[in-house]
Amino acid sequence: MTRLSGAKYHLPMKRVFSGVQPSGNLTLGNYLGALRQFVALQHEHECFFCVVDLHAITVPQDPSLLRAKTEEVAALLLAAGLDPTRMTLFVQSHVPAHAELCWILNSVTTFGELGRMTQFKDKAKGRKSVSAGLFNYPILMAADILLYRTHLVPVGADQKQHLELTREVAQRFNSRYGETFVVPEPLIPKVGARIMALDDPTSKMSKSSEVPASYIALLDPPDTVRAKVARAVTDSGREVRYAPQEKPGVSNLLVIYALCSDKSIQEAERDFEGAGYADLKRAVAESVIETLRPLQARYKDLTVSGEVHEVLAAGRRRAAEVAGPVLEEVKDKVGLLRA
Ligand code: TYM
Repeated sequence: MTRLSGAKYHLPMKRVFSGVQPSGNLTLGNYLGALRQFVALQHEHECFFCVVDLHAITVPQDPSLLRAKTEEVAALLLAAGLDPTRMTLFVQSHVPAHAELCWILNSVTTFGELGRMTQFKDKAKGRKSVSAGLFNYPILMAADILLYRTHLVPVGADQKQHLELTREVAQRFNSRYGETFVVPEPLIPKVGARIMALDDPTSKMSKSSEVPASYIALLDPPDTVRAKVARAVTDSGREVRYAPQEKPGVSNLLVIYALCSDKSIQEAERDFEGAGYADLKRAVAESVIETLRPLQARYKDLTVSGEVHEVLAAGRRRAAEVAGPVLEEVKDKVGLLRA
Protein backbone atom coordinates (compact mmCIF):
# COMPACT_ATOMS: atom_id res chain seq x y z
CA MET A 1 0.00 0.00 0.00
CA THR A 2 1.17 3.53 -0.71
CA ARG A 3 2.68 5.30 2.28
CA LEU A 4 0.67 8.29 3.44
CA SER A 5 1.26 10.48 6.46
CA GLY A 6 -1.29 11.79 8.94
CA ALA A 7 -3.68 10.15 11.38
CA LYS A 8 -6.68 11.52 9.44
CA TYR A 9 -6.59 8.50 7.14
CA HIS A 10 -7.52 6.11 9.90
CA LEU A 11 -10.90 5.03 11.22
CA PRO A 12 -13.79 5.73 11.50
CA MET A 13 -14.93 4.99 7.95
CA LYS A 14 -15.73 8.13 6.02
CA ARG A 15 -17.19 8.98 2.62
CA VAL A 16 -14.57 10.04 0.07
CA PHE A 17 -15.22 11.68 -3.32
CA SER A 18 -12.88 12.97 -5.99
CA GLY A 19 -12.92 13.68 -9.72
CA VAL A 20 -10.52 13.72 -12.64
CA GLN A 21 -11.09 15.53 -15.94
CA PRO A 22 -10.79 13.49 -19.14
CA SER A 23 -8.90 16.28 -20.90
CA GLY A 24 -5.37 15.70 -22.18
CA ASN A 25 -3.05 12.95 -20.97
CA LEU A 26 -3.05 12.06 -17.27
CA THR A 27 0.31 13.05 -15.84
CA LEU A 28 2.68 12.07 -13.09
CA GLY A 29 1.35 15.18 -11.28
CA ASN A 30 -2.17 13.71 -11.28
CA TYR A 31 -0.79 10.41 -10.06
CA LEU A 32 1.39 11.76 -7.23
CA GLY A 33 -1.01 14.51 -6.16
CA ALA A 34 -4.29 12.58 -6.39
CA LEU A 35 -4.48 9.00 -7.78
CA ARG A 36 -2.01 7.63 -5.29
CA GLN A 37 -4.14 8.95 -2.44
CA PHE A 38 -7.28 7.48 -4.02
CA VAL A 39 -5.71 4.03 -4.07
CA ALA A 40 -4.69 4.23 -0.41
CA LEU A 41 -8.05 5.61 0.75
CA GLN A 42 -10.14 2.84 -0.84
CA HIS A 43 -8.81 0.45 1.81
CA GLU A 44 -10.16 2.48 4.69
CA HIS A 45 -13.15 4.47 3.49
CA GLU A 46 -16.22 4.35 1.26
CA CYS A 47 -14.92 5.93 -1.92
CA PHE A 48 -16.51 7.42 -5.05
CA PHE A 49 -14.29 8.44 -7.96
CA CYS A 50 -15.67 10.19 -11.00
CA VAL A 51 -14.46 10.96 -14.52
CA VAL A 52 -15.81 14.49 -14.86
CA ASP A 53 -16.72 14.81 -18.54
CA LEU A 54 -19.17 17.68 -17.93
CA HIS A 55 -16.31 19.68 -16.48
CA ALA A 56 -14.15 18.92 -19.51
CA ILE A 57 -16.66 20.47 -21.96
CA THR A 58 -16.35 23.90 -20.29
CA VAL A 59 -13.51 24.43 -22.78
CA PRO A 60 -13.70 23.27 -26.43
CA GLN A 61 -13.22 19.50 -26.90
CA ASP A 62 -13.19 17.27 -29.94
CA PRO A 63 -16.27 15.02 -29.35
CA SER A 64 -14.75 11.68 -30.39
CA LEU A 65 -11.51 12.43 -28.56
CA LEU A 66 -13.47 13.31 -25.41
CA ARG A 67 -15.27 9.96 -25.54
CA ALA A 68 -11.96 8.12 -25.98
CA LYS A 69 -10.29 10.09 -23.17
CA THR A 70 -13.19 9.41 -20.80
CA GLU A 71 -12.63 5.68 -21.26
CA GLU A 72 -8.86 6.08 -21.06
CA VAL A 73 -9.02 7.97 -17.76
CA ALA A 74 -11.36 5.36 -16.27
CA ALA A 75 -8.95 2.60 -17.37
CA LEU A 76 -5.95 4.51 -15.98
CA LEU A 77 -7.65 4.94 -12.61
CA LEU A 78 -8.19 1.18 -12.46
CA ALA A 79 -4.66 0.53 -13.69
CA ALA A 80 -3.31 2.81 -10.96
CA GLY A 81 -4.80 0.39 -8.43
CA LEU A 82 -8.44 1.31 -7.87
CA ASP A 83 -10.29 -1.90 -7.15
CA PRO A 84 -13.93 -2.18 -8.34
CA THR A 85 -14.76 -4.33 -5.31
CA ARG A 86 -13.57 -1.57 -2.95
CA MET A 87 -14.79 1.67 -4.52
CA THR A 88 -17.26 3.13 -7.00
CA LEU A 89 -15.95 4.49 -10.31
CA PHE A 90 -18.33 6.25 -12.70
CA VAL A 91 -18.72 8.92 -15.38
CA GLN A 92 -20.22 12.23 -14.26
CA SER A 93 -22.67 12.64 -17.17
CA HIS A 94 -24.08 9.14 -16.48
CA VAL A 95 -25.61 10.41 -13.25
CA PRO A 96 -27.84 13.39 -14.16
CA ALA A 97 -28.24 14.36 -10.50
CA HIS A 98 -24.85 16.17 -10.75
CA ALA A 99 -26.11 18.63 -13.37
CA GLU A 100 -29.44 19.05 -11.58
CA LEU A 101 -27.88 19.84 -8.22
CA CYS A 102 -25.44 22.17 -9.96
CA TRP A 103 -28.38 24.21 -11.28
CA ILE A 104 -29.91 24.49 -7.82
CA LEU A 105 -26.57 25.46 -6.24
CA ASN A 106 -26.15 28.16 -8.92
CA SER A 107 -28.70 30.06 -6.90
CA VAL A 108 -26.80 29.67 -3.65
CA THR A 109 -23.47 30.93 -5.06
CA THR A 110 -22.63 34.52 -5.90
CA PHE A 111 -21.13 36.04 -9.02
CA GLY A 112 -18.47 37.66 -6.84
CA GLU A 113 -17.38 34.33 -5.36
CA LEU A 114 -16.96 32.76 -8.79
CA GLY A 115 -15.10 35.79 -10.12
CA ARG A 116 -12.47 35.37 -7.39
CA MET A 117 -11.52 31.82 -8.42
CA THR A 118 -7.88 31.86 -9.53
CA GLN A 119 -8.33 28.77 -11.75
CA PHE A 120 -11.08 30.58 -13.65
CA LYS A 121 -8.84 33.60 -14.13
CA ASP A 122 -5.96 31.39 -15.31
CA LYS A 123 -8.09 29.32 -17.67
CA ALA A 124 -9.94 32.36 -19.07
CA LYS A 125 -6.71 34.25 -19.75
CA GLY A 126 -5.90 34.48 -23.44
CA ARG A 127 -9.18 32.87 -24.63
CA LYS A 128 -11.17 34.69 -27.29
CA SER A 129 -14.39 33.40 -25.82
CA VAL A 130 -15.02 32.20 -22.26
CA SER A 131 -18.05 29.94 -21.70
CA ALA A 132 -20.52 30.45 -18.86
CA GLY A 133 -19.70 26.81 -18.02
CA LEU A 134 -16.09 27.71 -17.27
CA PHE A 135 -17.29 30.42 -14.88
CA ASN A 136 -19.76 28.04 -13.16
CA TYR A 137 -17.24 25.16 -13.08
CA PRO A 138 -16.72 25.30 -9.28
CA ILE A 139 -20.47 24.97 -8.65
CA LEU A 140 -20.59 21.70 -10.59
CA MET A 141 -17.65 20.59 -8.49
CA ALA A 142 -19.54 21.51 -5.32
CA ALA A 143 -22.52 19.50 -6.61
CA ASP A 144 -20.28 16.47 -7.28
CA ILE A 145 -18.99 16.51 -3.74
CA LEU A 146 -22.12 17.47 -1.81
CA LEU A 147 -24.38 14.90 -3.55
CA TYR A 148 -22.50 12.11 -1.80
CA ARG A 149 -22.44 13.75 1.64
CA THR A 150 -18.68 13.53 1.31
CA HIS A 151 -16.38 13.93 4.34
CA LEU A 152 -13.00 13.89 2.59
CA VAL A 153 -11.90 15.13 -0.83
CA PRO A 154 -8.40 14.00 -1.86
CA VAL A 155 -6.98 16.58 -4.29
CA GLY A 156 -3.80 18.39 -5.29
CA ALA A 157 -3.10 21.91 -4.01
CA ASP A 158 -4.61 23.55 -7.12
CA GLN A 159 -8.13 22.54 -6.01
CA LYS A 160 -7.92 24.09 -2.52
CA GLN A 161 -9.83 27.25 -3.40
CA HIS A 162 -12.62 25.24 -5.08
CA LEU A 163 -12.93 23.17 -1.91
CA GLU A 164 -13.20 26.32 0.20
CA LEU A 165 -16.06 27.51 -2.02
CA THR A 166 -17.74 24.09 -1.75
CA ARG A 167 -17.61 24.34 2.05
CA GLU A 168 -19.06 27.86 1.92
CA VAL A 169 -21.92 26.75 -0.39
CA ALA A 170 -22.71 23.75 1.85
CA GLN A 171 -22.84 25.91 4.96
CA ARG A 172 -24.98 28.55 3.25
CA PHE A 173 -27.45 25.95 1.96
CA ASN A 174 -27.63 24.31 5.40
CA SER A 175 -28.32 27.59 7.16
CA ARG A 176 -30.91 28.67 4.59
CA TYR A 177 -32.81 25.40 4.21
CA GLY A 178 -31.82 23.28 7.23
CA GLU A 179 -29.08 20.70 7.81
CA THR A 180 -28.66 18.84 4.48
CA PHE A 181 -25.05 18.62 3.37
CA VAL A 182 -21.91 17.39 5.08
CA VAL A 183 -19.27 20.16 5.02
CA PRO A 184 -16.31 18.36 3.37
CA GLU A 185 -12.61 18.56 4.23
CA PRO A 186 -9.91 18.70 1.55
CA LEU A 187 -7.19 16.08 1.83
CA ILE A 188 -4.04 17.54 0.31
CA PRO A 189 -0.81 15.49 0.53
CA LYS A 190 2.07 17.03 2.49
CA VAL A 191 4.52 16.11 -0.29
CA GLY A 192 3.54 16.04 -3.97
CA ALA A 193 0.51 18.34 -3.81
CA ARG A 194 1.99 20.45 -6.60
CA ILE A 195 4.32 18.67 -9.00
CA MET A 196 5.88 21.27 -11.24
CA ALA A 197 6.41 21.33 -15.02
CA LEU A 198 9.72 19.85 -16.19
CA ASP A 199 10.41 22.74 -18.56
CA ASP A 200 9.38 25.44 -16.06
CA PRO A 201 9.56 24.50 -12.39
CA THR A 202 7.68 27.66 -11.41
CA SER A 203 4.44 26.44 -13.01
CA LYS A 204 2.31 23.36 -12.33
CA MET A 205 2.74 20.16 -14.38
CA SER A 206 -0.48 20.19 -16.39
CA LYS A 207 -2.18 17.61 -18.63
CA SER A 208 -3.62 20.40 -20.77
CA SER A 209 -0.16 21.77 -21.61
CA GLU A 210 0.63 21.98 -25.30
CA VAL A 211 4.29 21.17 -24.62
CA PRO A 212 4.63 17.38 -24.09
CA ALA A 213 8.16 17.84 -22.70
CA SER A 214 6.64 19.74 -19.75
CA TYR A 215 4.92 16.66 -18.32
CA ILE A 216 5.39 12.93 -17.91
CA ALA A 217 2.27 11.16 -19.15
CA LEU A 218 1.28 7.99 -17.30
CA LEU A 219 1.50 6.10 -20.58
CA ASP A 220 4.89 7.48 -21.65
CA PRO A 221 7.25 4.60 -22.57
CA PRO A 222 10.55 4.32 -20.61
CA ASP A 223 12.68 6.01 -23.27
CA THR A 224 10.34 8.99 -23.42
CA VAL A 225 10.51 9.31 -19.63
CA ARG A 226 14.33 9.21 -19.77
CA ALA A 227 14.45 11.84 -22.51
CA LYS A 228 11.99 14.18 -20.78
CA VAL A 229 13.73 13.97 -17.41
CA ALA A 230 17.15 14.44 -19.05
CA ARG A 231 15.88 17.70 -20.57
CA ALA A 232 14.24 18.96 -17.34
CA VAL A 233 15.25 22.46 -16.32
CA THR A 234 17.57 22.49 -13.29
CA ASP A 235 19.11 25.36 -11.37
CA SER A 236 22.44 27.11 -11.07
CA GLY A 237 24.97 25.50 -8.74
CA ARG A 238 25.78 21.80 -8.51
CA GLU A 239 24.47 20.69 -5.17
CA VAL A 240 21.42 18.37 -5.00
CA ARG A 241 19.43 19.92 -2.17
CA TYR A 242 15.74 20.48 -1.38
CA ALA A 243 15.20 24.27 -1.45
CA PRO A 244 12.01 25.06 -3.41
CA GLN A 245 12.58 28.85 -3.55
CA GLU A 246 16.25 28.80 -4.41
CA LYS A 247 16.35 25.54 -6.42
CA PRO A 248 12.84 24.91 -7.81
CA GLY A 249 13.95 22.54 -10.59
CA VAL A 250 16.13 20.29 -8.42
CA SER A 251 13.56 20.36 -5.60
CA ASN A 252 10.80 19.23 -7.96
CA LEU A 253 12.97 16.34 -9.17
CA LEU A 254 13.78 15.40 -5.57
CA VAL A 255 10.07 15.33 -4.69
CA ILE A 256 9.34 13.09 -7.69
CA TYR A 257 12.23 10.79 -6.77
CA ALA A 258 11.20 10.62 -3.09
CA LEU A 259 7.57 9.76 -3.89
CA CYS A 260 8.42 7.26 -6.63
CA SER A 261 10.91 5.43 -4.43
CA ASP A 262 8.79 5.70 -1.26
CA LYS A 263 11.36 7.74 0.66
CA SER A 264 11.19 10.94 2.70
CA ILE A 265 12.69 14.13 1.25
CA GLN A 266 15.56 13.84 3.75
CA GLU A 267 16.29 10.26 2.67
CA ALA A 268 16.18 11.38 -0.95
CA GLU A 269 18.64 14.22 -0.26
CA ARG A 270 20.98 11.78 1.47
CA ASP A 271 20.97 9.51 -1.61
CA PHE A 272 22.55 12.35 -3.59
CA GLU A 273 25.19 13.63 -1.16
CA GLY A 274 28.23 14.39 -3.29
CA ALA A 275 26.36 13.52 -6.51
CA GLY A 276 25.55 15.85 -9.41
CA TYR A 277 22.44 16.80 -11.41
CA ALA A 278 23.08 14.10 -14.02
CA ASP A 279 23.03 11.40 -11.29
CA LEU A 280 19.82 12.86 -9.90
CA LYS A 281 18.15 12.87 -13.31
CA ARG A 282 19.15 9.27 -14.02
CA ALA A 283 17.74 8.12 -10.68
CA VAL A 284 14.55 10.14 -11.11
CA ALA A 285 13.90 8.65 -14.54
CA GLU A 286 14.42 5.07 -13.30
CA SER A 287 12.21 5.58 -10.22
CA VAL A 288 9.43 7.00 -12.41
CA ILE A 289 9.77 4.15 -14.92
CA GLU A 290 9.50 1.57 -12.10
CA THR A 291 6.45 3.35 -10.67
CA LEU A 292 4.71 3.43 -14.05
CA ARG A 293 5.66 -0.09 -15.15
CA PRO A 294 2.91 -2.03 -13.31
CA LEU A 295 0.32 0.64 -14.12
CA GLN A 296 1.13 0.47 -17.84
CA ALA A 297 0.97 -3.34 -17.83
CA ARG A 298 -2.44 -3.33 -16.11
CA TYR A 299 -3.67 -0.64 -18.50
CA LYS A 300 -2.78 -2.84 -21.47
CA ASP A 301 -4.70 -5.79 -19.98
CA LEU A 302 -7.71 -3.61 -19.22
CA THR A 303 -7.97 -2.27 -22.75
CA VAL A 304 -8.20 -5.79 -24.16
CA SER A 305 -10.54 -7.22 -21.51
CA GLY A 306 -13.31 -4.63 -21.92
CA GLU A 307 -13.71 -4.66 -18.11
CA VAL A 308 -13.89 -0.87 -17.95
CA HIS A 309 -17.43 -0.80 -19.41
CA GLU A 310 -18.73 -3.21 -16.79
CA VAL A 311 -17.06 -1.26 -13.99
CA LEU A 312 -18.58 2.01 -15.22
CA ALA A 313 -22.06 0.48 -15.60
CA ALA A 314 -21.97 -0.85 -12.02
CA GLY A 315 -20.51 2.46 -10.83
CA ARG A 316 -23.30 4.41 -12.44
CA ARG A 317 -25.93 2.30 -10.65
CA ARG A 318 -24.27 2.63 -7.25
CA ALA A 319 -23.64 6.38 -7.62
CA ALA A 320 -27.25 7.03 -8.69
CA GLU A 321 -28.49 5.03 -5.71
CA VAL A 322 -26.66 7.36 -3.31
CA ALA A 323 -27.11 10.64 -5.19
CA GLY A 324 -30.84 10.20 -6.01
CA PRO A 325 -32.26 10.50 -2.48
CA VAL A 326 -29.98 13.45 -1.64
CA LEU A 327 -31.17 15.32 -4.74
CA GLU A 328 -34.82 14.56 -3.83
CA GLU A 329 -34.27 15.96 -0.35
CA VAL A 330 -32.69 19.10 -1.78
CA LYS A 331 -35.55 19.64 -4.25
CA ASP A 332 -38.04 19.27 -1.46
CA LYS A 333 -36.19 21.70 0.81
CA VAL A 334 -35.96 24.45 -1.80
CA GLY A 335 -39.68 24.11 -2.55
CA LEU A 336 -39.84 22.36 -5.93
CA LEU A 337 -43.25 20.74 -6.44
CA ARG A 338 -42.79 16.97 -6.49
CA ALA A 339 -43.99 15.18 -9.64
P1 TYM B 1 -7.81 17.61 -12.72
O1 TYM B 1 -8.45 16.68 -13.66
O2 TYM B 1 -7.15 18.83 -13.25
O3 TYM B 1 -6.73 16.86 -11.84
C1 TYM B 1 -7.03 15.65 -11.16
C2 TYM B 1 -6.34 15.66 -9.80
O4 TYM B 1 -4.92 15.79 -9.97
C3 TYM B 1 -4.44 16.86 -9.17
N1 TYM B 1 -3.32 17.49 -9.88
C4 TYM B 1 -2.07 17.63 -9.38
N2 TYM B 1 -1.54 17.27 -8.20
C5 TYM B 1 -0.22 17.54 -8.01
N3 TYM B 1 0.57 18.14 -8.94
C6 TYM B 1 0.07 18.53 -10.13
N4 TYM B 1 0.84 19.11 -11.03
C7 TYM B 1 -1.31 18.26 -10.40
N5 TYM B 1 -2.12 18.49 -11.46
C8 TYM B 1 -3.33 18.02 -11.13
C9 TYM B 1 -5.62 17.81 -9.04
O5 TYM B 1 -5.49 18.65 -7.91
C10 TYM B 1 -6.78 16.84 -8.91
O6 TYM B 1 -6.92 16.40 -7.59
N6 TYM B 1 -11.62 20.24 -10.84
C11 TYM B 1 -10.93 18.98 -10.76
C12 TYM B 1 -11.81 17.76 -11.02
C13 TYM B 1 -13.02 17.66 -10.17
C14 TYM B 1 -13.06 17.32 -8.80
C15 TYM B 1 -14.45 17.28 -8.46
C16 TYM B 1 -12.08 17.04 -7.84
C17 TYM B 1 -14.31 17.81 -10.60
N7 TYM B 1 -15.16 17.57 -9.56
C18 TYM B 1 -14.86 16.98 -7.16
C19 TYM B 1 -12.50 16.76 -6.55
C20 TYM B 1 -13.87 16.72 -6.22
C21 TYM B 1 -9.82 18.97 -11.80
O7 TYM B 1 -9.86 19.66 -12.77
O8 TYM B 1 -8.86 18.03 -11.59
